[in-house]
Formats: sequence, C-alpha cells, structure tokens
Amino acid sequence: MNKKTIRDIDLKGKRVLVRCDFNVPMDENQNITDNRRIVAALPTIKYLIEQECKIVLCSHLGRPKGEFKKEFSLAPVAAELSKQLGQEVLMATDVIGENAKTLAENLKPGQVMLIENVRFHKEETENDPEFAKQLANFGEVFVNDAFGTAHRAHASTEGVSHYLPAVSGFLIEKELKFLGDALENPERPFISILGGSKVSDKIGVIDSLLEKVDELLIGGGMSYTFYKALGYSVGNSICEDDKIDLAKELMEKAKAKNVKMLLPIDNKLGKEFSANTETMVVDRESIPDGWEGLDIGPKTIELYTEELKKAKTVIWNGTVGVAEFDLFAEGTNSLAKVLSELDATTIIGGGDTAAAVQKAGLADKMTHVSTGGGASLEFLEGKKLPGIECLMDK
Ligand code: 3PG
Repeated sequence: MNKKTIRDIDLKGKRVLVRCDFNVPMDENQNITDNRRIVAALPTIKYLIEQECKIVLCSHLGRPKGEFKKEFSLAPVAAELSKQLGQEVLMATDVIGENAKTLAENLKPGQVMLIENVRFHKEETENDPEFAKQLANFGEVFVNDAFGTAHRAHASTEGVSHYLPAVSGFLIEKELKFLGDALENPERPFISILGGSKVSDKIGVIDSLLEKVDELLIGGGMSYTFYKALGYSVGNSICEDDKIDLAKELMEKAKAKNVKMLLPIDNKLGKEFSANTETMVVDRESIPDGWEGLDIGPKTIELYTEELKKAKTVIWNGTVGVAEFDLFAEGTNSLAKVLSELDATTIIGGGDTAAAVQKAGLADKMTHVSTGGGASLEFLEGKKLPGIECLMDK
C-alpha cells in the first residue's frame, strides 16, 4: 500500500482520533450478534496503547439520520471492546459535546474512550467541514481503520483528514493487501463467485472482474435475469427485465475476453419467499409459473465444486441463495465448505457472504474474510475509496 500507516509516523504519547467501523449487528435487546468488526479493530488499538497514546475512538452504527436514538448507541460496543482489550473503554454520552470533551481531556497515556455514534449529527454524512474540525480537535493525528466505511466520504472518514495528519491502521492495511494482491497478482486459475439478488448491483464488479479472472461462477437472484436473457422462463423469480440486454452484453464480453462464465444449471425453488415454504428442485429450463428460484441446485453445486477445485485464487462476493433461510442456504454452505478445503487463496467479500461463512463456522478456514460489504464491492469494482485516498502517501 502506498499510504502511510501507524507504523510510519511517531505516535509516542500522542492524542489520536481513530475511526473504526463498529457498525455491528445487534438483536432487539442491543446484544451484539457478530463481533468480527470489533475484533478486527483490536490490533490497531493495542498498538496505540503500547505507544502510550491517548486514544479517542469513533464510529457510526446504523443509520440514525442525524438524531440521537438510543437503539443506535455505541455503548454495547464499548462494553464488548473493554472485554476484548481487558481494560476499560470509557463511553461518552455525546459525540462532540461536553461529556466527550471532558473525558478526552482527562485521558491518561494508554487509555481508550469511545465517543457516541457520529451519525447522531447529520453533519457527519454531509461531510460538514465545521463538524469535521470539531472531531479533529480530539486528536493530533487521525488514524482511519474503518475499512467497512472507507467508501463513504463522511466527516469522520474523510473530512477530518483536512485538519490532521492522516494514516491508516492495520485493518485497512490488511484489507488492501489481501484484496489488492488477489486482484493485481493472483495465482491462477483465478475464479470469482458472484451472487446477490440484482445484476444492477453487480454490473461494476462483473465488468471489472472480467478483466482479471479466468472464470466467473454466477449465483443468487441475479441468475434469473441471465436466464431470461437466454430465453428461459423464470416463474416468480426475481428478475430485472430492464437489465436483460445488459446481461446479454456481459455474457458477450465474457466470451470476447475468453472468461468462462457459468450460470447455475439447476435451482431449488420455493412456493413463496419464506423460511418455511414448499420446495422443489428443477433444471433451469423448467422453472414453472408460481415458483421462485431461491438457491442453486445440487447439479450446480457439483459443477461449481469441480471448477473451484482447479482454482488457486478465489474471490467470493454475494451468497448464491437466500442464505438467511436454512432451507435455501445449502448452495452457499456447500461452496463455503469447498473453499475451506482448497489449497488456494480464498477471499470472502464482506456483508452477507462473510456473515454466511461465519454462520457456517468456516470463517477461520478462509485466507481473508473482509470486514467491508459495500467497501469491498467498490474496491473490487476498481473504484477509489475516499477514506483511503485522503490518507498521507508514503
Ligand atoms: C457497512 O456496514 O457496510 C458499513 O458500516 C457502511 O454502512 P452504511 O452503508 O450505512 O454507510
């Protein structure tokens, strides 16, 4: 990475403002249901503690749209962080108010505090310069380690870099290394699995990966737009009729680039979009009216498994079925299992795919599971991420 990291500057005893992505899922009682993003932030925080910094952490949680809402408080994150770090993380009751300022002024070397959800102020997402300046007052240096939010040009991810020397933390460095190396220097064969419900969400990434990969395995709801482009009926399956021509173009492009682009050959259908519905498996030419495709079928699992066994690098973004319903998670779980056993570099794009791999208990078996959903997608699309662009060059 050509950006400076916390290793490249002298931080000894300094006040640091650290942007993390603590946007973690919680249940209705504010219990954190997946702490991966918190655990991923620990190496940077521990390093700053060792450097005897006075550490002010900030993050967003959810989309509270500029007002204080208790259910979006970061207090449960401070509690989990305290547990993970084995030292108390002080929790401010406000973002840039008196409480946060007083706590920050009284921090001792090696102490850590967390200010409240930056999105309690609408100025955060507006990237308001005055709000960014107020945040910048918390530190002498800005450390961005929020890979999951690096695609947002918000006050706490980009704005503050106009007022403070800005460097990356270890998580951003690690994410860029794995995602970047896989894209720029992949050991071949390089195969990508792309799922998700809409072609329109994935046009950019398909387009960009067609320049890099040897093979593309398609799954998820977007398959049905491709099926229609091939002239098959799709029943009630999700389908973007206005993207059929685009699907044709993408298949043409794959052919022209000599990229093997595979679509599912069979599917598990549901009578309804529900966790408990009647199901059946059919070949892709035979989807009847009144049914919708919600997972890849066993023949596709077999076909994709054989292809993946040849791979030396795999990037996976998007589940191949409705993995949140156990009934339609078999395709996703089977491919996760195959990847976990490969002698290859296996990279899991964040978001739903990471959650599914985690749920399957296989996250530890992958080379890298990204903490960024939208951010990793934009990175794979070849877009510049504002939260990274704004950091100091090496
Ligand atoms: C994410 O979960 O993808 C990030 O935390 C960004 O959240 P956002 O989509 O609300 O900006």
